[in-house]
Amino acid sequence: MRIDVISLFPEFIAQCAAFGVVGRAGERGLLALHGWNPRDYAEGNYRRVDERPFGGGPGMVMLIEPLRASLKAAREADPRPAKVIYLSPQGAPLTQAKVRELAARERLILLCGRYEGVDERLIQAEVDEEISIGDYVLSGGELAAAVVVDAVARLQDGALNDAESAVQDSFEDGLLDCPHYTRPVEHELGDVPAVLMSGNHAEIARWRRMQSLGRTWQRRADLIDEASLSKADRKLLDT
Ligand code: ADE
Repeated sequence: MRIDVISLFPEFIAQCAAFGVVGRAGERGLLALHGWNPRDYAEGNYRRVDERPFGGGPGMVMLIEPLRASLKAAREADPRPAKVIYLSPQGAPLTQAKVRELAARERLILLCGRYEGVDERLIQAEVDEEISIGDYVLSGGELAAAVVVDAVARLQDGALNDAESAVQDSFEDGLLDCPHYTRPVEHELGDVPAVLMSGNHAEIARWRRMQSLGRTWQRRADLIDEASLSKADRKLLDT
């Protein structure tokens, strides 16, 4: 998969993608990340990328042309069609289902704004989808882009080792993950639940499912309605 990032700080995202699973996905040739800086496509001695907003108000708005030229360069760097995503608090919330959908694509272009945002005409003309990583405001889209890169990189075939399998992740089945334990079995902070030491795989699976359901119900009841719960799950929830 190829991801192009348009940002005034492309090195920032390259750094975020240099470590761990994402770094390894790059080394394994599963993910190619390319940065494009709109300042390189800005004109004049000052290479302006922003201007004051019409109608007044605080902050600056990113100019159309440097972004449009960066997008054109990114598009032309690879013949495969790319979905253009603008990271902004106005976007649709990022979910694991959306991550899965994006991870299945061959190409993405992530557009990062700074300041008050991007001229709306550029968004209307060039952006396919607007995505938010949460109901809070960051100083730019770079951290949000790094989140998207990380989440889609780890879903690329071969990115995770067997032991890191994505199947058991939180949200993969619409629920929060169960708790995890490792050595030592006994500790002053508490003991490992006995069922996990029992060797009874059916019981362990049942316990984990119950933990997932219980945590989701307690912490994120909003997810329960949407999760596809089996009859057995409903019975567990009722107990
Ligand atoms: N840019 C600034 N805030 C953001 C957010 N919450 N999500 C995505 N992009 C952003």
